[in-house]
Amino acid sequence: MLNGKTILITGGTGSFGNHFVDYVLKHYTPKKIIIYSRDEFKQFNMANKYKEYKDIFRFFIGDVRDKERFTRALNGVDYVIHAAALKQVPACEYNPMEAVKTNINGAMNIVDAVLDSPSVKKVVALSTDKAVNPVNLYGGTKLVSDKLFIAANSYVGDRDLTFSVVRYGNVAGSRGSVIPFFQNIIDNGGRELPITDYRMTRFWISLEQGVELVIKALQDSHGGETFISKIPSFKITDLAQAMLPGCEMPEVGIREGEKLHEIMVTKEDSATTYEYDKHYIIYPHYSWWAGSSKVLSGGKKVPEGFEYSSGNNKEWLSVEQIQELLKSKDIFH
Ligand SMILES: NC(=O)c1ccc[n+]([C@@H]2O[C@H](COP(=O)([O-])OP(=O)(O)OC[C@H]3O[C@@H](n4cnc5c(N)ncnc54)[C@H](OP(=O)(O)O)[C@@H]3O)[C@@H](O)[C@H]2O)c1
Repeated sequence: MLNGKTILITGGTGSFGNHFVDYVLKHYTPKKIIIYSRDEFKQFNMANKYKEYKDIFRFFIGDVRDKERFTRALNGVDYVIHAAALKQVPACEYNPMEAVKTNINGAMNIVDAVLDSPSVKKVVALSTDKAVNPVNLYGGTKLVSDKLFIAANSYVGDRDLTFSVVRYGNVAGSRGSVIPFFQNIIDNGGRELPITDYRMTRFWISLEQGVELVIKALQDSHGGETFISKIPSFKITDLAQAMLPGCEMPEVGIREGEKLHEIMVTKEDSATTYEYDKHYIIYPHYSWWAGSSKVLSGGKKVPEGFEYSSGNNKEWLSVEQIQELLKSKDIFH
């Protein structure tokens, strides 16, 4: 479906963007890939990495806070993937206005600019588990961003244009996450790995799975869906034992803005959530536009009160399975 299409990725120089581009070039022959981000150095590096594809790449320096610039970049674009974000919890907490400008105003700019750009057919915005019952500003801004993209479907009129959201949790091995944190301690000769709370659990998702879900959303969405991968959970204590077998695990206390479990679907969402073979979809709670109640085929409504959390998952990784996954070359990025 991406053959011959022009795809724009905001924040395309980031971890997700690089993986998405790898995937697209491996499986499709797009007409053009537009990277939209601020830092020229990251763009320079990316241009070097993909120099054999230079004819199809366009590197736009631009900020999602700048609607005029973003509108210019949209000329002739078929699909928009919105990955640009301020996403470090402490940074967002200390710089709340900046987080609002990028994550909320940026989302509004994208919605407005796309609505005014006739070539665009699909927009997929990336969300996070932190947007679910948010306990920190990063999650709060992403919740508002999700709502903006879902509600944007109300304004498309007769156009062949949809907005949808893909939500996933911490990518295994991503910067600032627990795997590189433990690895750093091990590399420096540490013999014990601190655990914030022995009960803590997380979902395990690779960047590859995140990218595949975005492709799925591009293929299937009718507008208004929030797509969520079905993935296994692990206990943080099992991760520590997988990385440093037999290690001491002092319990150091939960950090501010941290949750015991990652939640993807809340009990309140269960009323509009459907289960599919490999994912869940939360449909919009409000139906303001024609087709908003359209449920994609193959889904089964989840029971009332259902919650999808890393703490109540049916699928769990053992220490040995975690060790196998840690061997993957994609883990550290
Ligand atoms: N990584 C995870 O574990 C994870 C988990 C769940 C959801 N997500 C979501 O997935 C998305 C992508 O995450 P990622 O891991 O790829 O992040 P990342 O590696 O930090 O990349 C973010 C990208 O956004 C760009 N950017 C930041 N502010 C911008 C702005 N104002 N205008 C334009 N571009 C901007 C950055 O480039 P410049 O600095 O050059 O502008 C960078 O290329 C985010 O929406 C995030 O919330 C990530």
